[in-house]
Amino acid sequence: MDNQLVHFTLNGKEISVAVEPFEMLADTLRCRLNLTGTKKGCGQGECGACTVILDGDAVNSCMVPTIKADGCRVVTIEGLEENGKLHPIQQAFVDAGAVQCGFCTPGMILSTKALLDKKPDPTKEEIRIALAGNICRCTGYVKIEQAVELAANAIRRNHENQTAEGRYGG
Ligand code: FES
Ligand code: FES
Repeated sequence: MDNQLVHFTLNGKEISVAVEPFEMLADTLRCRLNLTGTKKGCGQGECGACTVILDGDAVNSCMVPTIKADGCRVVTIEGLEENGKLHPIQQAFVDAGAVQCGFCTPGMILSTKALLDKKPDPTKEEIRIALAGNICRCTGYVKIEQAVELAANAIRRNHENQTAEGRYGG
């Protein structure tokens, strides 16, 4: 079967890529677009290592045919830093000591981002539910949960500072 051209917004930029009809988004990202921050563990929807954000929701990209991303917004771990600075969620994972081998980390961070974009002040239970599909073999989950709380606080503080600067023209 012929390859199909798919258009979507990837980390804020419009892209087009020719893919095989049953190619999965994780493979397109890693093998055609060289975005290897998206990890592939199980390849069958069980580990969350391949998590990306698709139109605002965290999804297992190993289970999403790339043609389904046509016209959508996709965010990968490479899309988080700005001007060489880590995103507050990335920084929180470092600061909380929530990274060991790092294989699960991009997926954890993107599940966290999808959560905090919708719920800036999640409960512990909401954090657990949001990360339930992301498996970590190294850290246990305590430091990861702490990282999510740290990130939520940092993002809220940034917001408050920006609002105050806007209000007082600082
Ligand atoms: S590689 Fe996609 S869920 Fe494991
Ligand atoms: S840090 Fe190694 S799997 Fe999570």
